[in-house]
Amino acid sequence: MKYRTVKGAFDILPKDPDPQGAWREIHLWQHLEKLIREVATEYGFQEIRTPLFETTELFTRSIGSTTDIVSKEMYTFHDKANRSLTLRPEGTAPVMRAFIEKNFEQMGPVHKLFYVFPMFRYERQQAGRYRQHHQFGVEAIGIHSPYQDVEVIHLLWTLYKRLGLSKLTLHLNSIGDLEARKAFRHDLKIYLRPYFNDLSQESQTRYQVNLMRILDSKNPKDQKILQKAPSILDYLSESSKIYFESVCSLLENVGIPYQINTTLVRGLDYYNSTVFEITSDELGAQNSLGGGGRYDGLIEQLGGPDLPAFGFGAGLERIIQTMLAQSVHLPSPYHALIYIIPIGSEAKERCFKLVCELRQQHLTVEMELGERKLKNALRYANNIKARFVVVIGGEELASGKVELKEMATGGVETLSLDTLAVRLKAYL
Ligand code: HAM
Repeated sequence: MKYRTVKGAFDILPKDPDPQGAWREIHLWQHLEKLIREVATEYGFQEIRTPLFETTELFTRSIGSTTDIVSKEMYTFHDKANRSLTLRPEGTAPVMRAFIEKNFEQMGPVHKLFYVFPMFRYERQQAGRYRQHHQFGVEAIGIHSPYQDVEVIHLLWTLYKRLGLSKLTLHLNSIGDLEARKAFRHDLKIYLRPYFNDLSQESQTRYQVNLMRILDSKNPKDQKILQKAPSILDYLSESSKIYFESVCSLLENVGIPYQINTTLVRGLDYYNSTVFEITSDELGAQNSLGGGGRYDGLIEQLGGPDLPAFGFGAGLERIIQTMLAQSVHLPSPYHALIYIIPIGSEAKERCFKLVCELRQQHLTVEMELGERKLKNALRYANNIKARFVVVIGGEELASGKVELKEMATGGVETLSLDTLAVRLKAYL
């Protein structure tokens, strides 16, 4: 029996043997995660980590029971005490749960939190869509202002720019308040009724349970029908309109291009007012590199204080795939600076001590610990792309002199063993 990763899950490896799996290589993830932490910190966000599972009700109440996530995609199970638990399908609800549980609001009026962690959704597997995926998310709590919306969008845009990504589109919409959506839903239903039988199966279901999500349909026939559908923007209250105009003008002010997309409604029920998504031309059908919006009211709905909030989630898998597709500049993977090959047991003991000392000086050093023959050890050093190699046997120990060989050039430098650390440091 050969065990395999479960469908929709994947390993992140030092090197993926499958050329199509380059996006699963750890150095890319480390590079991205490092930049995420840098950018989030620059914008004043602090990291939060929540448990992998939560009570199921947290998600049903916040995301909405008629959404795809809750109705079809959650990994829900009962523990031994018969509690219904769910592997988190998204990060906003857990962060709000922590915020409320720990009375964060008593520590100050504004809280800016970010996270980088895995999410679980039982989705149909396809390129860019996984059953375990990872998100970088931010949640800015406490400020109801277009400035807050644009600060958060700017953060994500900056991350993408710093990664070297291009050809991105920022889609922007406002879905207004409850009243606006109620009136809009009413008219949308009337508009769609005559076309009901022509709608795709999925949209027919949504017609009954989650009407606005029909706007999201990628089905060409649905899209044609929707061309003349009413626009949510015509239903916004005066204050929502002014708010949305301010978001647009602030984006212009800071030089972020956007497209107003009135069919953008998002797949989670907690949103109101501004919603956005950033897409990449490089990805196929699953082209959303990240999305989010305002969710004033959610904290109160979950039993906390009535505080406004704005945030997003961005999929790490898709970001890395776009980085590769656009051949952005990438840091090279980790390589040892030097590979030390001892010949004989006395040399091995001495070399082992030397390696331990070099590492105390922050040098990346590896040593032949096994019994490989010199030729094989050299081949291995080449494979792991060690920059230098040194072979140390009885002669070197007696003379105290070693030959430092640079693998790429073949150049050799003779130096005293005592000065090896200093010499290597010069190459850092
Ligand atoms: P979401 O749109 O469901 O939003 O997910 C955010 C991002 O996660 C997507 O734009 C996409 O990049 C990535 N993503 C989602 N599902 C998958 C999947 N199955 N495979 C690969 N990538 C995926 C949320 O989850 C909200 N909590 C975002 C948010 C935070 N809104 C406010 N605060």
